[in-house]
Parts: sequence; C-alpha cells; structure tokens
Amino acid sequence: MADSKSETVLTERHETDNLDPRTDASARPDSPVHISPVQLGNITVPTPVVLSPMAGVTNWPFRVICEEYGPDGLYVAEMITARALVARNPKALRLCHFAPTEKIRSLQLYGVNPSITEQAARIVVDEGMADHVDLNFGCPVPKVTRRGGGSALPWKTDIFTELVSRVVSVCEPAGIPVTAKIRVGIDHEHETFLQAGHIAQEEGCKAVTLHARTTAEYYGGHSDWSRIGELKEHLDIPVFGNGDIWGADDALEMVRETGCDGVAIGRGCQGRPWLFANIKNAFQGNPERIDPNLGEVCRVIHRHAELLIQFYDGDEMMAVHDLRKHIAWYLKGFPVGGSTRKAFMECESLADVDREISRLDPAIEYPPRVLDKPRGRVRFAKKVHLPYGWLESRTTTHEERENLFGDDPMDASY
Ligand SMILES: Cc1cc2nc3c(=O)[nH]c(=O)nc-3n(C[C@H](O)[C@H](O)[C@H](O)COP(=O)(O)O)c2cc1C
Repeated sequence: MADSKSETVLTERHETDNLDPRTDASARPDSPVHISPVQLGNITVPTPVVLSPMAGVTNWPFRVICEEYGPDGLYVAEMITARALVARNPKALRLCHFAPTEKIRSLQLYGVNPSITEQAARIVVDEGMADHVDLNFGCPVPKVTRRGGGSALPWKTDIFTELVSRVVSVCEPAGIPVTAKIRVGIDHEHETFLQAGHIAQEEGCKAVTLHARTTAEYYGGHSDWSRIGELKEHLDIPVFGNGDIWGADDALEMVRETGCDGVAIGRGCQGRPWLFANIKNAFQGNPERIDPNLGEVCRVIHRHAELLIQFYDGDEMMAVHDLRKHIAWYLKGFPVGGSTRKAFMECESLADVDREISRLDPAIEYPPRVLDKPRGRVRFAKKVHLPYGWLESRTTTHEERENLFGDDPMDASY
C-alpha cells in the first residue's frame, strides 16, 4: 500500500505546471518599489492590495479571514447581478451582507442594461449597503458574454459609457466611489482596455483594475503585465494590476514592472488568506512571511467553517458544502492522503470537519512545492461567445439594444 505522501502525489491535481518564469526570484532586479495609500474618493486604502472579487469564494467569511491577515486592504464581495438585486433575489441579497468588522464594505455589480444597473446602484445607496461599488467588465464566462455582459461590454462604447455614467451619477452624490474592473479586450484584434479605462475615468470612476488577459485567453497563459503599464501611462486615476500574483514577490514585481498603484489578488489567495499579510509586509519592506504549518491551516479551516455557519444563518450543511472547495485549496500540497481528502469532501457538519482535522499532524510544515506557485483555474476559452454581429460595430443599434436588454442572467457564476 502507498504511504500517505506518495498517495498525495497521485491523488492531487496539478492544475498548473505552466509555471510563470516571473516567479523565479533570481530573474528580478532589486530596484526599489514605491507604494503609497490609494485614495478612492473619500476612501483611503492604506495598503493598496485588493481581494479581487470571486464568485462563490469572496463572501464575507472569506473576506474577514483575509482582512484579519492583511488589515488595510480592500476586500471586494463577489459580483451581484444587478437584475437579481433589483428583483430582491434572496441569494443575491445574502451576498450583499458584510461582517461588522469589515472596514470598507465593497460590492461589485454586474449588469448589461444601464437602467437596471442604475436601479441596483440606487438600492445600494438608498439602503446604505456598501461604501464602494466596483463594476464588473471582466467576466469571460460564455453565459455572460453571449448577452454582451462582463468583458464583452466595453466593446460597445455607447452602452459602456452610459452604464458607468448612470451608476456614478447615483453613487457619487452619496460619497460612494465607483471603480471598474476590465480585461485587455475580447481578443488581440479587439482590444478595449485603453479606451475603456479612459471612458471610466471621464465618467467619474475613481480607479480601474486591469486583469491583463483577453476574454479569449480566459485564465490560460499569462497575464501580460506590460498592458497594465500601458494603462497606467494612459490614465490619471489609480490603476490596480491583476493577474498571476502568487506570492508577495510577484506583487512587488508587478508594481516595479508596471508602475501600477496597487495589486488585485484572485486565485493566489485561494486557501492562502495569509498572502495578504505577506504582501503587506513586502510593501513595507519587511522580509517576514507567513507560511503556516498544518496546525495553523486547520485552525483557519475551523474558523472559516464557523463564519460560514453564521453566513448561512446556522445551516451547517450549506456552510460545510461551501467550505469543501476551500478545504481542498487549504490542503493543497500538504502530504494528506487521498482518503483523507475524500473524507473532508464528504463532511456535512462542523463536527465532521473537526474530526478529520484531529486526524492530521499539526506539525507538518507548509509545503515548499506549492509556496507562491500558481493555483486555481488555468484554461483558455474554447470559443468566445458574443451576441450576434457584436464585433461589427463599436456602438449598438436600437434593435440590438432591444434584443440585449430583454433578460439578464440571474446567476452568472464564473
Ligand atoms: C472562481 C473565480 C470567480 C471569479 N469571480 C469574479 C467576479 O465575481 N467578479 C470579477 O470581477 N472577477 C471574478 N473573477 C476574476 C478574478 O477577480 C481575477 O480577475 C482573476 O482571477 C485574475 O486574477 P488572479 O490571476 O489573481 O486569479 C473570478 C475568478 C475566479 C477564479
């Protein structure tokens, strides 16, 4: 029978063997990096590190854990579909909840229809739901882009401009800064980021985040940080760079390479919320890094479970089902056998989770094999799905608008 270590090697999925050459520390120049707090309207983000919104991941329990490690950053909720908020869909409303400890309540809205998105922003403002609103123009998922949403929308400059302008006109008088999250474009023949960044700035956005891939690139290949540098050159408002930051040194390197004002972290913190502490330290020139042993990781898993139980109003089963994917991320690379991983995936209650935790050896050190290495999804798009005739013109006809604004998806899970 295989010992637990070799079993791990066999049972764990290696999602990312396409390691980024930038993670080779020896390749980096050691030029100094200047990092200052970022101002978003009235809101100061003292450490310009953003938890990038992730559907199904960045609900308040995860945000709270990230913020405990890295106070002073910006922790954005997963995207809320404007139409779902306007319809007061209970699932969407749950995603708008914040924990009392969250310093900046940051919501992301997704919409295609400027009027519906404005109505959603009006709800956020009138009901005091958030301190900051981000707009999603980065989603590459077919069910979103085929309706002209997410990363497809900046191509249509008329709708894009109107949507940003209407949301800003509702949020700005209430002192709520609006920001936009964009991709490079639909593909390299249809790039939109410079124009989209410019429009966002002109319409009153306080910052732009660029995930430096196209829709067609989806999560494949590498985020092309040179495009972040281009956007930074092009705009006066702060630019947050996004894509492929797996460790604190990557964050420093992105700032050094691109001159961006801050960084946004998605997949790199899945199962590694302490990355926010490490980046904060790196930004302060402090060499200290947290690489917890298995005991500490399990303490985080237990706490995450407790917070999720609160999030789901005491429904342990829903909480533990939500937690399962996080457990897989937390345990990534640790010599934990396939049967134990399977047992975690079958947990239905906190007691089940604690029982499995008690079987692990807390003294096991953090596995260097996965330290600061890529994690999470890495696929290219099979095909970009867009509304019929979308690329033929940068603006929409009356008929196209009629077709588009019929129905937004209620759940656009990434
Ligand atoms: C599971 C998952 C869910 C995501 N959900 C959202 C979302 O709701 N809104 C959004 O703007 N981006 C979303 N993204 C994109 C991330 O915010 C981020 O832009 C992308 O993962 C690139 O950054 P990274 O290389 O640090 O992961 C999601 C990404 C993943 C992997």
